[in-house]
Amino acid sequence: MMDFALLLLALWAVAGSVSPQAAGSCPERLLGDERGRTCPRPCKTDGDCGNKRQCLCDGQCGLSCVAPGRPCPWPLPPSDNSETRLLSPTHSFSALLEVRCNPGFTLPNGLDATIRRCQGDRQWSGDEPICTATQPSSPPFAQTCPVPDEVIDTFSIQGNAAVGTSIHYSCLSGADIVGSSENFCQDNQTWQYPHPICKQVYCLSPREVDQGYVVAVQKTEYEVGFDIHYLCKKNFLLDGPQKVTCLSNGSWSAPPPFCRARCLIPAGRSRVTIGGVKRWPFDVTDAMVPHGENVTFYCNHPRKQCNLAATQTCFDGKLQPPACYLEPTWLQYKLFPHRLVSEIGECEPGDVE
Ligand SMILES: *[C@@H]1O[C@H](CO)[C@@H](O)[C@H](O)[C@H]1NC(C)=O
Ligand SMILES: *[C@@H]1O[C@H](CO)[C@@H](O)[C@H](O)[C@H]1NC(C)=O
Repeated sequence: MMDFALLLLALWAVAGSVSPQAAGSCPERLLGDERGRTCPRPCKTDGDCGNKRQCLCDGQCGLSCVAPGRPCPWPLPPSDNSETRLLSPTHSFSALLEVRCNPGFTLPNGLDATIRRCQGDRQWSGDEPICTATQPSSPPFAQTCPVPDEVIDTFSIQGNAAVGTSIHYSCLSGADIVGSSENFCQDNQTWQYPHPICKQVYCLSPREVDQGYVVAVQKTEYEVGFDIHYLCKKNFLLDGPQKVTCLSNGSWSAPPPFCRARCLIPAGRSRVTIGGVKRWPFDVTDAMVPHGENVTFYCNHPRKQCNLAATQTCFDGKLQPPACYLEPTWLQYKLFPHRLVSEIGECEPGDVE
């Protein structure tokens, strides 16, 4: 195909150079078609021209008075991307030259070669041929829609942004999307919709904690990643997280903690076991145990002279003695301290019914 076009071009160029004998094939003068071209004086016969000129066909200038021996510039300055070769023995009027692009380069019209003719104005016909690098043939996914950096920084994007495909956005922060979470890359490499945005997320003030403090600047909303620390008042035990963080979905990382109260040990004249140590309650500071502490009480065996251990747990200020526990009377405690239930031996496993 390309060679055929070249052949036609060459034939035309040759036809353009024939003398008036074949004048029927010389085109009418077409002004303005060849840029920068000045046509010599038009003529019908040699007699219309001076004695140094002849009436010859000068391409698109039509029949013109030209001096046949006048040369066009040669050699031409070398070009990086093409080779120029003279096709005629001379470089004077009606001589032809071929400009052929180097491999990998083509002319603006897509061809890789062109033929130029030496005109009556001593110029080579046509525009200066410029060979440019051929676009590498595009694989099907090479054509994509642009994804700006700020979009890449904000979203996790599913899809490759190729023409004819969709992408799906999700906010890296986990926040809700404002706009369309899906977009389509159109044939002209533009997106069907504008890129969406991620909603700015805040956490609301966390709940107050009874008997505790929130260690943070008081605000109506807190930004994602903000930490809030909790402290409990003296003698209260923190039950829950010491710190909560504002998550990217606007929730705190955990519900606020509780500040749990200590429990008064509900026994006085019996020893109890706290943390593996059997002690008199009055020997324990304030006779209180912290929240969550296990206190083992000793109950009387219904029939035998031995005691049964029953453990209760302090929960936020509440510690019930086990139902079987009987507080010794003041007399029992004063007169027979060694016979108090907590002081007699523990029942054997076999004694327990
Ligand atoms: C926020 O995210 C956390 C952790 O991913 C999750 O446990 C919690 O249920 C979420 N909260 C809401 C309101 O979606
Ligand atoms: C109390 O007892 C429970 C159940 O046996 C145990 O899980 C917990 O760790 C104990 N608490 C203390 C403070 O020892």
